[in-house]
Amino acid sequence: MLVHIPGLLTQDELTYCQATLKAAQWGDGRETAGQQSAKVKNNLQLPQNSKECQELGQIVLRALGRNTIFNSAVLPYRVSPPLFNRYENGMNFGAHVDNAIRGIWAGDIHTRIRTDVSSTLFFSDPDEYDGGELTMHSNGHEQTIKLPAGDMVLYSTTVLHNVAPVTRGSRLAAFFWSQSMIAEESRRQILFDLDMQVMSLRDRLGDMDPSVLSLTNIYHNMMRQWCIL
Ligand code: NI
Repeated sequence: MLVHIPGLLTQDELTYCQATLKAAQWGDGRETAGQQSAKVKNNLQLPQNSKECQELGQIVLRALGRNTIFNSAVLPYRVSPPLFNRYENGMNFGAHVDNAIRGIWAGDIHTRIRTDVSSTLFFSDPDEYDGGELTMHSNGHEQTIKLPAGDMVLYSTTVLHNVAPVTRGSRLAAFFWSQSMIAEESRRQILFDLDMQVMSLRDRLGDMDPSVLSLTNIYHNMMRQWCIL
């Protein structure tokens, strides 16, 4: 699963986030890494408790809430608070695995989520930096991703990945994990494919077309069978 979501943020949100990120105080990215990935992680991160991290995190979460593709592809149960990173001067993140379980704070309560889907939201345009490709390693081949500012990629957290060294300029991004209501990836893909087709049929035939109604019913019945709630 690899899904490109163009223009997650409005132009105003993007401009505000970029200005805030450029003026912020950055810390060592290893703070939120596991023992193994800390050895290959070399980047900067906004401290989790900083005002900027929390404020920009809210902007990203609001944008997710209104995005049809994110909600259809991920079927989110819980989303981790977004984190923000910065790579420059040769910084990189070598090949690593993201932890299957992450502790998060939901208000005053500490809880855990299973990381099913990873998201990277780009704040720098590709022509602002060299290198910095997000690279997926699966089944013996590599796939590289470098998207325009404001665009986001979703990928399965099950996949080994790395961020190539940034050799010119600065690469700013947000990243976070989602626990899906559908644990099994192939089932999540089937529901996403079906939902996309139902949406397309609704546009062409209207909400009350009998086939649209019936397919919508089938979609929800599959959700009932497969969801973990
Ligand atoms: Ni990672």
